[in-house]
Amino acid sequence: MQRLTPGYLLLAFALAAGPAAAIAADQPTKTIKTVTAKDTPLDGKVMFHEYCAVCHGENAQGNGPAADALKKAPADLTQISRKNSGKFPEIRVMRVIKGDDELAAHGNRAMPVWGTIFRSLSSKEGSDLRVNALLKYIEGFQAK
Ligand code: HEC
Repeated sequence: MQRLTPGYLLLAFALAAGPAAAIAADQPTKTIKTVTAKDTPLDGKVMFHEYCAVCHGENAQGNGPAADALKKAPADLTQISRKNSGKFPEIRVMRVIKGDDELAAHGNRAMPVWGTIFRSLSSKEGSDLRVNALLKYIEGFQAK
């Protein structure tokens, strides 16, 4: 997938052709398109639905409608604690969402840099509040 321009873009997907049943026989017809991120209430669940579910899926297990159009599979976000000896790695997850991690620095990140996108909607502080609300929401659905 091409690198997303940081700033004002949110990923959405579109089916280029007809009903799902017709697609199996055809070539892959999914195309990814970027749209301007919409402002939302400061609510983790609402934001997850608006910004994240297109790739990670409504159930956060990595099977959103855009997932198979990406080169890299979106992570199953319910397994983060499990993969970390049962502890939710809050700071690492925060850095991944904001785009402060080294993946972003190397320019091969498959996920939008949300820190920049959220700052474009409000301010640095507003962006931090959004990331915190998302963190709490994600922490709340970790598999036991
Ligand atoms: C364009 C598709 C896409 C969107 C939209 C997206 N992600 Fe991701 N996400 C990915 C991919 C792909 C990965 C796998 C790591 C990588 O290469 O970037 C990932 C990884 C992650 C990880 C790391 C998980 C782990 O196990 O370490 C977290 C946390 C995460 N995403 C949270 C979010 C949140 C929160 C949102 C919404 C604000 C979001 N993502 C929106 C594609 C996306």
